[in-house]
Amino acid sequence: MDRTFQHDTNAGTALTRRPQWQALLRHAQGTGDRSLRELFAADPHRGERLAAEAAGLYLDYSKQRVGDDTLRLLRELADACGLRARIDAMFAGEPINATEGRAALHVALRAPPGERIEVDGHDVVPDVHAVLTRMAAFADQVRDGRWVGHTGQRIRTVVNIGIGGSDLGPTMAYEALRHYSQRDLAFRFVSNVDPADFLEATRDLDPAQTLFIVCSKTFTTQETLANAHAARAWCLAALHDEAAVARHFVAVSTNADGVRAFGIDPGNMFGFWDWVGGRYSMDSAIGLSTMIAIGPARFREMLAGFHAMDVHFRDAPFDRNLPVLMGLLGIWNNNFLGAATVAVLPYAQYLGRFPAYLQQLAMESNGKHVTLDGRRVEVHTGPIHWGEPGTNGQHSFYQLLHQGTRLVPCDFIGFCQPLDPGNAQHDLLMANLFAQGEALAFGKSAQQVRAEGTAEALVPHRVFEGNRPSSTILADRLTPHSLGALVALYEHSVFVQGAIWNIDSFDQWGVELGKQLAKTTEAELATAAPQLQHDSSTNALIRHYRERRGP
Ligand code: F6P
Repeated sequence: MDRTFQHDTNAGTALTRRPQWQALLRHAQGTGDRSLRELFAADPHRGERLAAEAAGLYLDYSKQRVGDDTLRLLRELADACGLRARIDAMFAGEPINATEGRAALHVALRAPPGERIEVDGHDVVPDVHAVLTRMAAFADQVRDGRWVGHTGQRIRTVVNIGIGGSDLGPTMAYEALRHYSQRDLAFRFVSNVDPADFLEATRDLDPAQTLFIVCSKTFTTQETLANAHAARAWCLAALHDEAAVARHFVAVSTNADGVRAFGIDPGNMFGFWDWVGGRYSMDSAIGLSTMIAIGPARFREMLAGFHAMDVHFRDAPFDRNLPVLMGLLGIWNNNFLGAATVAVLPYAQYLGRFPAYLQQLAMESNGKHVTLDGRRVEVHTGPIHWGEPGTNGQHSFYQLLHQGTRLVPCDFIGFCQPLDPGNAQHDLLMANLFAQGEALAFGKSAQQVRAEGTAEALVPHRVFEGNRPSSTILADRLTPHSLGALVALYEHSVFVQGAIWNIDSFDQWGVELGKQLAKTTEAELATAAPQLQHDSSTNALIRHYRERRGP
């Protein structure tokens, strides 16, 4: 069948020629000097009014530099860009990943049994649940010790080998949900082709008690295959029997032939589908390590959190729709206020890998320079996402957030209850989160600084200009459900932005050139061939490396 995505919006119209875009430009010029102080002074209820709640998440966007007029114009832009049709197309399994001719149907991974979602006329929901059932049976066996290694010993450590979406989701989710994990099982994650990663992850492990999960959608990824081969050699060096592979290796992939060729029995493979993008796969079988860590019931709670946000995104009107609001605010900050980055600041140590996870989600999705029809985009697309958990960042880069010359919109993420009930230190953590948003928005004027008795020469140094936008996302507790809802919130807000820019948020051609060049270069490093065909810089670097690398 023709897998070309068709939608009935006027996608060919250049974004910047749309009257709605022009109206936003005029609006940005006209309201440029309207500060957050003024916006709050003009509306005593702004803090409650510019907030919305769904799937257990509370989003306060009142500290964004927008008025009701801005929000209306942004929604008009979304309408003009056909956002509603795009959302419907995604949920309907249409091939919205146009350059690869595929659906982007991660929402089907968390659809409850009985819901019907079709790809090319085939209902995929029963397939999803069949894999979840197999995963649950396997996870239970590992958790309760029925799955033993080749010598009959219990598995004590699970090592996930994968990279990109086959690593960041599992790593982030394990860290985030560690509180719920089975503590007599350890989890390690190996991604980097740097051999140090594998060496350090395994140096204190007993192969007889170690299970490797090799995660790769394609099962062709250089780094993952190199690490999987290293793992196989490490395992067999100790266990001396090829048959051990069957007890110590399982695979998660869409490529059964590749898995078989590696030597893993496809009976020990958990599958997924080409309509799941790598960076949208943590809730597929790629989440097997998460399921082993927290158990099948809690994994299903996480899926329910994802699903609750999916339903909200699909059904809620745009003015109360969290992913739509977040996506449009991102467009405003990026394209109309000129902010090139977004700082993601979770006030939760368990969310330490969440910014890295979002980097792939947002930047691999929306780091694109052409529109769906192949024309150069005229505006900046995906902003750079970065961040660290609070309060650590406060003692390093927040200086720039408060007093630097660049505008850096911030997403603060926090939880109302600690996972360790009654721990008063949690109030201290949250006090810091609230203080940062307030300080960024309202700053401290020269007048206030002087009133504190500051010497005149120091006044300019101690002024906080304020007017720096942020959003705050609160959930009651960090649970599998709230994590699922949070990830889905970001997935869909990234999608909203891609729809406005009219780009393909689901391909990643930009990673290919480096992969190709690395292959050629690897061969050159192996052979000491005198003829190097690169530019003079790369040739000189390779020669320098060859001379110095040692035996
Ligand atoms: O190189 C980028 C990428 O394709 C990501 O999109 C993906 O998550 C990662 O590599 C890993 O791919 P795979 O799961 O096929 O090994």
